[in-house]
Amino acid sequence: MKSTYTGNLFLVGFMGCGKSTIAPLLAEKLKRPLFDTDEWVVNDTGMSISEIFANYGEKWFREKETGCLKIAAAMQDSVVSVGGGAILNSQNFILLKKSGIIIYLKCAPEEILNRVRNDKNRPLLANVPEQDKLEKIRQLLTQRETYYQMSDIIVNVKNDESVQHVTKRIFSRVEDLI
Ligand code: S3P
Repeated sequence: MKSTYTGNLFLVGFMGCGKSTIAPLLAEKLKRPLFDTDEWVVNDTGMSISEIFANYGEKWFREKETGCLKIAAAMQDSVVSVGGGAILNSQNFILLKKSGIIIYLKCAPEEILNRVRNDKNRPLLANVPEQDKLEKIRQLLTQRETYYQMSDIIVNVKNDESVQHVTKRIFSRVEDLI
């Protein structure tokens, strides 16, 4: 299906909520180009996200991410997987709002922990002791929830649902808007 809507569809949400898995499925279903901000930064810098944080720090990563969002927002009809912390910058958030529909994949902290527990490429959680990880996720979510909640569409994501099914649900929410 190819619609006439020329704005972008931005998938936002905390790390581990499934953005980068669901974005390609949604892009395929909608026949739209796919863009992943983390992937773009990794390709642009030639470093993994962890290497960027370790060598240049989070601030530098955020600058790269903002640059990348400007490119994404200037595109017309793409499905964009947006790194979990990008919308904390209000300018970024405004940019996304102006150039498309923001879809929040909402996931409970316990579920997020299950998904990211052993992932070495999550620098914000990598050095947090195992017993403190859930609390750290809760803290970050509390800081971010206000932004996430301002999304145009909120989709609850649970572990027992396949990514294909979540994609279908997102599709049914956006098809009237695009
Ligand atoms: C981050 C999320 C990551 C990545 C970086 C910082 C965050 O992206 O951009 O590690 O601040 O939540 P994903 O949400 O795609 O994992």
